[in-house]
Amino acid sequence: MTDFGDRYGPWALVTGAGNGLGAEFARQLAKQGLNIVLVDLDGAGLEAIATELRVQAGVEIRTVQLDLAQPAFMTQLDPVIEDLDIGLVINNAGISALGLFTGRPLQDQLSVVDVNVRAPLMLTHHFAPRLIRRGKGGLLFVSSLSALQGTAYVANYAATKSWNLIFAEGLWEEMRGTGVDVLGYLVGSTRTPGFVNSRPHLERASLVKVMEMPEVVKGALAGLGKGPTRVAGASNGMAAALLCRLLPRKWAVKVVSGTTRKLYG
Ligand SMILES: NC(=O)c1ccc[n+]([C@@H]2O[C@H](COP(=O)([O-])OP(=O)(O)OC[C@H]3O[C@@H](n4cnc5c(N)ncnc54)[C@H](OP(=O)(O)O)[C@@H]3O)[C@@H](O)[C@H]2O)c1
Repeated sequence: MTDFGDRYGPWALVTGAGNGLGAEFARQLAKQGLNIVLVDLDGAGLEAIATELRVQAGVEIRTVQLDLAQPAFMTQLDPVIEDLDIGLVINNAGISALGLFTGRPLQDQLSVVDVNVRAPLMLTHHFAPRLIRRGKGGLLFVSSLSALQGTAYVANYAATKSWNLIFAEGLWEEMRGTGVDVLGYLVGSTRTPGFVNSRPHLERASLVKVMEMPEVVKGALAGLGKGPTRVAGASNGMAAALLCRLLPRKWAVKVVSGTTRKLYG
């Protein structure tokens, strides 16, 4: 077991682990020797990554196929994790409802809130007291650059990502001195199945730098224990500084919304 494993193991739980950044979190945690509970809606994705990690990393894996949008999802999770000593929870799963807010059914927007806000809130309410009792561990919330200002065409999604960032910051302060590290991690455009399937017109938005998953996840795990928030990658870091510190808020909203329009308009 590595130092990272000693600090955050022996088990981690990752949501949205069947694909994309969640699967990459699982890969990098397994390399550190952690056993992992993989949670996802996509059963085939879960089994593929579970097989890969059992064979290549030799760690223990448990999979739970469930829908985080269902308020009662903990009743499915509980029996699988009750005998495990979980030291790290990665709240990664996230969905968006792209388009004008008024153009999408209410149910789509409520599902975004359920997966992006209700689920991490419930998981944190379950795990935070246990982690504090253990005296060590971590809670990581995958947020987005869109958390930094309102963003047209993903207005509700951006607001939920803001919730993740602000929630992480508050918990970070509450849990300082308990041995539990909390991190809100701001991700920019990253080549994941979800991002590729959204069919962004990258040729129209030359300022958008798309990151690869390994680098994004490496930055997140390196950021645990080093402050309440971290931005993925230097170029996203510069964009965040520009948006938060230099531009008037009105212009930050306009710039990011304009980029989203170019990507998806
Ligand atoms: N990729 C980017 O450019 C980017 C940028 C900023 C922030 N982020 C954030 O990064 C995180 C991961 O994004 P990603 O791009 O890796 O996503 P992804 O490629 O779409 O993968 C997300 C995974 O979560 C699963 N999932 C979706 N809804 C679920 C639910 N209700 N219950 C359980 N699992 C569910 C998906 O299953 P299905 O495939 O069955 O739907 C999928 O396996 C998200 O929080 C996202 O907001 C990503």
